Amino acid sequence: MCGIVGYVGPKPVIDVLMPGLARLEYRGYDSAGVALNHGGSLTVLKQAGRIADLQGLVDREGPAEAHTGIGHTRWATHGAPNTGNAHPHMDCRRDVVVVHNGIIENWVDLKAKLVENGHDFDSDTDTEVVAHLIEEMADLPLADAVRKVMNQADGALALVVMRKSEPDVLVGARRGSPLVVGRGKGENFLASDIPAFLEHTRHMVIVEDDRVVEIRPDEIVLTDLEGNSMPLDERMVEWDFEAAEKGGFDTFMLKEIFEQPHAIADTLAGRIESPGRVVLDELTIDSEILREVDKVFVVACGTSYHAAMMAKYAIERWARLPVEIDIASEFRYRDPVLDHRSLVIGISQSGETIDTLAAVRYARAQGSVVIGVSNVVESALARESDAVLYTRAGPEIGVAATKTFTTQLVAMQLLGLYLAQVRGALDPGAIELQVKELLRLPDQVEAVLARADDVKELTSAWVDTRDWFFLGRSGDFPVAMEGALKLKEIAYVRAEGYAAGEMKHGPIALIEPGVVVVGVATDSHVQAKTLSNMEEMKARGGTIVLVAEEGDDVGHVADHVIRVPSGPDLLCTVTAVVPLQLLAYYVATARGMDVDKPRNLAKTVTVE
Ligand code: AGP
Repeated sequence: MCGIVGYVGPKPVIDVLMPGLARLEYRGYDSAGVALNHGGSLTVLKQAGRIADLQGLVDREGPAEAHTGIGHTRWATHGAPNTGNAHPHMDCRRDVVVVHNGIIENWVDLKAKLVENGHDFDSDTDTEVVAHLIEEMADLPLADAVRKVMNQADGALALVVMRKSEPDVLVGARRGSPLVVGRGKGENFLASDIPAFLEHTRHMVIVEDDRVVEIRPDEIVLTDLEGNSMPLDERMVEWDFEAAEKGGFDTFMLKEIFEQPHAIADTLAGRIESPGRVVLDELTIDSEILREVDKVFVVACGTSYHAAMMAKYAIERWARLPVEIDIASEFRYRDPVLDHRSLVIGISQSGETIDTLAAVRYARAQGSVVIGVSNVVESALARESDAVLYTRAGPEIGVAATKTFTTQLVAMQLLGLYLAQVRGALDPGAIELQVKELLRLPDQVEAVLARADDVKELTSAWVDTRDWFFLGRSGDFPVAMEGALKLKEIAYVRAEGYAAGEMKHGPIALIEPGVVVVGVATDSHVQAKTLSNMEEMKARGGTIVLVAEEGDDVGHVADHVIRVPSGPDLLCTVTAVVPLQLLAYYVATARGMDVDKPRNLAKTVTVE
């Protein structure tokens, strides 16, 4: 989730770009840069690290007089977070400069053709491909060239492009990633986020998907990808800065819950090949080594441990490999039996959790192969693994994991299917079926989010409830565990996640009137048993809430049913957890809690 700001107008552009980038710092980033168009020359200044570091570079080397420019904060998805990969990026002739937010899925093929045509690349990013593609269209007006690029590039992207020879125009384009115009008086702005230009103007022009926009100081031209002029949808921004940073949501956590469809789509992007094959080229482990693996261990903490539970189901079901899962802080003390044929998967959205790092280091010392699953490029886990599978949830500001969890679940499904593919454990037809279902997830999660108010209304009766159970079997069990953790960590309420079948072995003694029991019953193999467990809870006075698929006959045990779209068992866990995130969120906010910064918690736990 990178940050973009562009300006054309009478002001010294650097006085707009740097404060604009500072307004985007909250999004998280690992490098920043600016490009300035002044008097027929282009200056590009960029720096890994903080915006303050870039400011120093600008103060030293920035030209005094420039009135057109673009700035960028990068959250790395392709290529290390270093200065070379920082945006903006240029073409060979240093005539075109581009910044980008999103993922160009076919960038490897596009780059190969450009290299074949003699282009030299400076970076490992997908973004740089755009600059060289436009270089090849030097005879076209910039907007035409950008339209052609948008017709060639697959995936979610927002671009802003500048050309040395056209000093008073910026061209933006978007598909999936955000981009908005700020209309000023004799000046105009482009940004990924309203806060970047809010101090200059509240007048914005919406840029819909598959649109290209040209801004000059006194002109805004919007077209579709064929160049047909489109009407301008102009709005006034009512938000203050804080609301604008949260995209109009009350909290970062709620914004991130609603970002999940986009985050899941980004995590799938470029990793599925038609008609239905998983492609994980970034997984730099020889297939022969993966074929020799005879056991898998998955280690993680907290919410990531619940993703590890799901990994067990996915890898055992698809790849038919035995999987052991461990809470990372327990793993190395149980003296696990590891060797060179063991594959150890460490899951950590931050990639900095010391318990997980210690477990992974122990595994490597035993000669095992390690795959890191992280949301942060070049995090410690990424650096200390033999290979990395990144989730692409973008920065997660809220302490409670939400979009990083659902993207971890998707990553685990991809990994399970990939291992099955490499090891020939599943026929291509079966893989194709699962892949097609994976691609439906963003829309399915969107559908669940559309009913968020139903969850809010439902939970209003339980704001003061102090005893909750979350129950599930099979793939629903990790979902129940995650639902309980969410409620604990943001509402400070006692909530137990339990295997539904295990309640009768003791914990059922706690069930009495006033206890709310949430049953997750999407896994068809065990649904009947889960429902009978819920009958046992009801018989003892529990209030029963059920999460079940649309159309499933769940009898009359539930006092309330939350429906999610139907799908294959293991994938329903992705949609089933969303109502539980919302449930915890609405209970916590009704209880007046600070859901973005819960007491006693840190976003990254770097102590053992
Ligand atoms: C989840 O909401 C919590 N913030 C916490 O349990 C977290 O999942 C755990 O600390 C692991 O973090 P990691 O994924 O960054 O390793």
